[in-house]
Amino acid sequence: MSPTRFAPSGPLRGSLRPPSDKSISHRAALIAAMGDRETVVEGYLDAADTRSTLEAVRALGAAVDEERLGEGEGIAGARGLQLRIKGIGLRNPRPANIDVGNAGTLLRLLPGWLAGQDGGEWTLNGDESIRRRPVDRIANPLREMGADLSAREDRLPPLEVRGAPLHGITYEMPIASAQVKSCLLFAGLLAEGETRVVEPAASRNHTEVMLEAAGAPLTSDQNVIAIRPAEHLEPVDLLVPADISSAAFFLTAAVLVPGSGVELEWVGVNPTRTGLLTILGRMGAEVEFDKEAESGGERVATLRVGHASLQATEVGGAEIPLAIDELPLVALAACFAEGTTTIRDAEELRRKESDRIETVTAALRALGGHVEPTADGMVIEGTGGLRGGSIDSHGDHRIAMLGAVAGLTSREGVEVHGMEAAAVSYPGFLDDLGSLIIPCSGVSD
Ligand code: S3P
Repeated sequence: MSPTRFAPSGPLRGSLRPPSDKSISHRAALIAAMGDRETVVEGYLDAADTRSTLEAVRALGAAVDEERLGEGEGIAGARGLQLRIKGIGLRNPRPANIDVGNAGTLLRLLPGWLAGQDGGEWTLNGDESIRRRPVDRIANPLREMGADLSAREDRLPPLEVRGAPLHGITYEMPIASAQVKSCLLFAGLLAEGETRVVEPAASRNHTEVMLEAAGAPLTSDQNVIAIRPAEHLEPVDLLVPADISSAAFFLTAAVLVPGSGVELEWVGVNPTRTGLLTILGRMGAEVEFDKEAESGGERVATLRVGHASLQATEVGGAEIPLAIDELPLVALAACFAEGTTTIRDAEELRRKESDRIETVTAALRALGGHVEPTADGMVIEGTGGLRGGSIDSHGDHRIAMLGAVAGLTSREGVEVHGMEAAAVSYPGFLDDLGSLIIPCSGVSD
């Protein structure tokens, strides 16, 4: 496939609602499938990853009716799908071979629900990238709970799950991972006694919010989340907010391109997801919150941001899980800042859809950036801008979209090989980006 070229652009201006939150969509489908009744999910993300989750819950026995929301049809401007999911109930999902595609969240969350289903057998496998992503991080604590699982080389997909009786444990997570936490909370719904997950730092808490709303016996105190077994769940209808991780590309582009001012509507601003806003704020950008509201236990707001001159910063510790998927954009912004930015404590970046310490370093260096990879992050020397050039997405959606933003802000433009990877989380990315660029000269095939 030919590369997509992003020419240096004029300012980004205007307003749009980014697509719905990927993390919340995955959880909405899984938890609705655990219910006994019909749940309506308005604005389910219509992208490759979350389609994999819909197919998975169908394979397990849930009935999913889907309707595509037309322009202006969704409640509060929701984009994507309107789903009616008739759940299976908490127990007895059908045995199946599950294709998780590229979706790491599905790969890590679903086994938690399946592990305690005595008598059932499931296999989870996916694309070439997913087969390189570790599952020992869930398999090990699940085994401590009594689960019967096997994986290739004991740590990679395909993952086989044979349902077995589980018992609660206290698990101190070595790394802050919302996927591991969520997996164990799902397992705790069917385990005997209490399951406690201790986080080293807060990670996104959408699973806790949604399980509590569904009546699960869950408590959350600082960094300890405890759950007891449930007979059944009563999932509530949900309106999915826009994804801050998708909004992040436009927020960053607006900060970097002089003269820009964009407004992003109905964005989920759960404090466990807003690390990028804090970091950009520290670097000198001003992100304004407007029309703050609550939807399904999640905070939402309209975000406004414009161009700013940036200063270097230090990013590490408890801030990492709050900005984990946006760290590539922090590295990009750091190329434009005055001074040297350090990202540390982010070794997890090596285990995302690509090794993002390597792929971000390679991409930014190819465009003229001064970036040094470290074992757990990057050191970026700001030079006030990027020349441009050609990059490869390595099949990673966030690297593809990073390349697009870099192109708009570069002096010579950027060619992205593998732009189609964006469809994993954001199929309409090019159209949305084009709608914000004035004059619309930025994107060409
Ligand atoms: C996710 C959690 C994060 C994040 C991923 C989505 C989730 O992974 O990087 O894109 O929906 O739970 P970890 O929590 O494993 O770091």
